[in-house]
Amino acid sequence: MTLRTLESLGSLEGKRVIVRCDLNVPLKDGVITDDGRVRASLPTLNTLIEAGARVVVCSHLGRPDGAPDPQYSLEPVAKRLSELLDQPVAFASDTVGESASDAVAALEDGEVVVIENLRFNAGETAKDDAARKAFAGELATLGDALVSDGFGVVHRKQASVYELAEILPSAAGLLIATELDVLDRLTESPERPYTVVLGGSKVSDKLGVISHLLPRVDRILVGGGMLFTFLAAQGHAVASSLLEKDQLDTVRGYLADAEERGVEIVLPTDVVVAESFSADAAHEIVAADAIEESPFGTSGIGLDIGAETAAVFAQAICDSKTVFWNGPMGVFEFPAFAAGTKAVAQALTEVDGLGVVGGGDSAAAVRQLGFADDQFGHISTGGGASLEFLEGKKLPGLEVLGWA
Ligand code: 3PG
Repeated sequence: MTLRTLESLGSLEGKRVIVRCDLNVPLKDGVITDDGRVRASLPTLNTLIEAGARVVVCSHLGRPDGAPDPQYSLEPVAKRLSELLDQPVAFASDTVGESASDAVAALEDGEVVVIENLRFNAGETAKDDAARKAFAGELATLGDALVSDGFGVVHRKQASVYELAEILPSAAGLLIATELDVLDRLTESPERPYTVVLGGSKVSDKLGVISHLLPRVDRILVGGGMLFTFLAAQGHAVASSLLEKDQLDTVRGYLADAEERGVEIVLPTDVVVAESFSADAAHEIVAADAIEESPFGTSGIGLDIGAETAAVFAQAICDSKTVFWNGPMGVFEFPAFAAGTKAVAQALTEVDGLGVVGGGDSAAAVRQLGFADDQFGHISTGGGASLEFLEGKKLPGLEVLGWA
């Protein structure tokens, strides 16, 4: 089965259309630090505005505890959306209360309202099916149809993602369609060589994706905090670097499996070791098998891949026809430890084929390091969602839209 598309909803002129976006953007002191997800929602919203729909935008932001919490208000997001759409956007200070229903009732054709954070209501994320259904029922009173476009949240069985799509006539928006197009190209006969670059802090977050991708790719490059568990699995001392001891056997299993299959798992040959975890920490590049011989001894912390490794990774990426990258290579937020992530990002822009940045921290990293979205084949808006898709998992928010 294929996804129900916007066309399946028929004419939307004058209809109240709820759009479930993922506007879960990073905020610092109330200011959006990466508006990528807001920009990614524009094609669907503009299409609905042009079609004369009355657009009711909803989303989660952060993980509030099922009750209002001002630090997670969507109000700054509504302001940013208004700037990007270049038209006024109303904001309702509740999700299903009077403010929301009044704001929706006041909409004219082509106008937009953002309602407050869905997760200010316990029903949105409730484990109990009946509680989610009840909340979805309340939400449904605000619309005549649902366009589901929050790709970043399709792996969550939550009221606005799943139950609401069962209650209202529903279809996928343009962002979900685009994301699936690209991710499908990664899973259905990708052009070879196919390289996956994995980073981020924990190997335990990537177990499913490594198991699923091992038989399907040509090489996996390992960076980020998780590299130290790989080095330790090979018997190297990693000083005070991040180490998941309980994953050592699993990682040894991957290394053996990869060897048997002829898949290369490329590990760093050098790393940047710092005296402490801070932006201005003293640091040095050392061989990956001699981390404890750095000037910082057993208290040294690995915070980035080294220059030699960055060059090897960059070459492997440029030699590939398909590349998927998830997870920074180091603590890119500190300029002294951003070089590895920058080198990988730069190489990805040079891929003669499909180069995909897989959501979350990696998307924030490339923008923070000064790259533009259009330098890459695709930047996914889904971190967890794109990983679960590549793991071959069934995603509730897609299944409910007809995807199988
Ligand atoms: C994300 O940032 O990955 C999505 O918005 C999902 O958020 P969640 O992990 O809090 O459900």
